[in-house]
Amino acid sequence: MSKPRVLSGVQPTGALHLGNWLGAIRNWVELQDSHDTFFCVVDLHAITVPHDPARLAEDTLSTAALYLACGIDPARSTVFVQSQVSAHSELAWLLNCVTPLNWLERMIQFKEKAIKQGDQVSMGLLDYPVLMAADILLYDADRVPVGEDQKQHLELARDIAQQRINARFGPKGADGEPEAILKVPEPLILKEGARVMSLTDGSSKMSKSDPNEGSRITLLDPPELITKKIKRAKTDPTMGLEFGNPERPEADNLLGLYAILSGRGREAAASECAAMGWGQFKPLLAEATVEALRPVQERYRELRQDPGAVETVLRQGRLRADQVAHATLQRVREALGFLVIPA
Ligand code: TYM
Repeated sequence: MSKPRVLSGVQPTGALHLGNWLGAIRNWVELQDSHDTFFCVVDLHAITVPHDPARLAEDTLSTAALYLACGIDPARSTVFVQSQVSAHSELAWLLNCVTPLNWLERMIQFKEKAIKQGDQVSMGLLDYPVLMAADILLYDADRVPVGEDQKQHLELARDIAQQRINARFGPKGADGEPEAILKVPEPLILKEGARVMSLTDGSSKMSKSDPNEGSRITLLDPPELITKKIKRAKTDPTMGLEFGNPERPEADNLLGLYAILSGRGREAAASECAAMGWGQFKPLLAEATVEALRPVQERYRELRQDPGAVETVLRQGRLRADQVAHATLQRVREALGFLVIPA
């Protein structure tokens, strides 16, 4: 029996933060033994908002290096760059032609990003979830480990596969029902860390696009900066840290971070900090964060010292990804009735 397949990715837009790590990449690392894992750097998604061409290649390389530094092992996982496997753009076009426009207009992230951009909104931003569906469906992924904010995009990918491709174009089986052309993926969302909130507002998500850098801790922030950001993080006037009080989103978020980053878990963290003031808690959280990130930062520095190391991983990843993706694309092309000329 072959292992179930996993695919996921992160955009190379600026430095990855604690939300990306705790909500997604941490889970990827765990899945490597039990699953056939594919992880891509989604650079085509990164240009759906205005981007700096002078930074794209370096951000792509450093994102891949961070995957490895976080524990993605190229011996067990296929690590590659989305734009280097052309099947992603091709399948996205085929899926575009069967996806209703109003499914995309409904997407929460599109609406949020579109409001921020005014008349700069591109077709690419609207089409972003279709490209994401192509990323996933090309690899026949069984599971897609992501943070909470990607749930709606995954439902869209499932609907496109099931209702718009399989139901319409699947050849009829013996029972008269259409057979699957594309595998319908399941989201895999962790219970803890799936929604890391901003340090400056416990009711909004930690995000790469927040103009206030103090709102997030990036995986490459030096210890002094981490300590400074946590010191300045928003608090409330109540003594004692606790989970689940809707009046205290900052307490919930920072205690949640402490529980994961210190390795103590929620129960032990909650009882340790139940009577603690913010002044005592914050240095503890800062230390746990610095210590949790230390090995990631060390490994990242090592990897970047050898300029060819990450490129070699990406070159090998591209070969394997291209093979799998190409086979799926052919399946869809045939199902849609394109002319096939034998070689
Ligand atoms: P991106 O680059 O915005 O985020 C990458 C991953 O990090 C998760 N995440 C968070 N998790 C918890 N708390 C947060 N504050 C937080 N912020 C981000 C995201 O849920 C995501 O898992 N569309 C995707 C990239 C993508 C993709 C794919 C993912 C493209 N193709 C195919 C899976 C499969 C995105 O924007 O991720």
